[in-house]
Amino acid sequence: METKNWRISHPAGRKRVIVTKELPGNRWLEILAQADCRIEICTSPDVISSEEITAAIGKNCDGVIGQLTEHWETALLATLQRAGGAVYSNYAVGFNNVDVAAATRQGIPVGNTPGVLTETTAQMAVALTFAAARRVCEAERYLRNGQFKGWLPTLFTGNLLWRKTVGIVGAGRIGEAYARMMVEGHKMNLVYYDLHQNTGLENYVKTYNEFLTRGNEAPVSCNRAGTIEELLRVSDCVSIHTILDASTHHLINAERLALMKNDAILVNTSRGQVIHEAELVAHCRNHPDFRAALDVFEDEPELKPGLAELENIVIVPHIASATRWTREGMAILAAHNVAALLRGYPVWQGPDIFPFLEANPPKAAPSIINAEELGLPSYKE
Ligand code: DGY
Repeated sequence: METKNWRISHPAGRKRVIVTKELPGNRWLEILAQADCRIEICTSPDVISSEEITAAIGKNCDGVIGQLTEHWETALLATLQRAGGAVYSNYAVGFNNVDVAAATRQGIPVGNTPGVLTETTAQMAVALTFAAARRVCEAERYLRNGQFKGWLPTLFTGNLLWRKTVGIVGAGRIGEAYARMMVEGHKMNLVYYDLHQNTGLENYVKTYNEFLTRGNEAPVSCNRAGTIEELLRVSDCVSIHTILDASTHHLINAERLALMKNDAILVNTSRGQVIHEAELVAHCRNHPDFRAALDVFEDEPELKPGLAELENIVIVPHIASATRWTREGMAILAAHNVAALLRGYPVWQGPDIFPFLEANPPKAAPSIINAEELGLPSYKE
């Protein structure tokens, strides 16, 4: 087993917290230090294996902040439990890398970092949508390669999305933020597919339509699709914002891609396994006017053969949440999750987590996924 380097912050702390990656900002360290924690941080940018995490936890560890690249499964959670661990927080809003049921069985609360990724991730989904629609990356490569010989009427013609139809798969926080940006910014008709009706989003489109009609502009439509197939057939661009679980694994496969318009755009900022990547590569190869833009990959960091070679696929390395504000906010929320549980604080139930980013945060854990199952007390103002 390779030995990675660790650094220690606030060595005098009496509770031992392991953090498997360097996190941005300093506020998160202050939060843990104020909760009497000694913080041990892995300084390697390489993905840390379960074996290495087990060794780092050792026989005595009160809490861990871990990453979406790690597999927090039964054995690792049991190691944490045996070491006296009282909490694990993912440094992510997604938690498909954590066996939450196993954590609940071991009595370990699992935290995540919702709220601070919403606008940032939606913004990247918009950036990817237009990079694909307007062929930005292809055109940049052409220019950098010295191929540009002068303006041409047909050079890199792409798709105008204004007044077309945008489809959202998963209309939770991030999907809704993306939908608003596309509807309001580009006057797109909206169709969404979600197990739950999103009345907030529907009301938002109604209010926006009042604004449009007051200015003598045609309204846009907003429909909840009964099936994903219906959404795929009518949309000019589709953005995926679902969680990854057994029901969404390979949700987009060859059969469903075949339903999409020949020049549609498919964007994914959720999790790579939602798309059958090899079938997407084949579809993009056979449909040169179809475009995909991906932030996440099925076997991350590996790409399926052919993906990187196709001009009609835009790829970025899982950076949708990468703004300084968001990444520092995620560190603050993860630290609060751990510090609060170690201090015996209850769990926040408020509509948003922004008070935790301020100077006098609530005495609560911002987001514990299995709080109810573990019977943890709720924060009351
Ligand atoms: C998350 O938090 O789940 C994101 O994928 C990180 O960008």
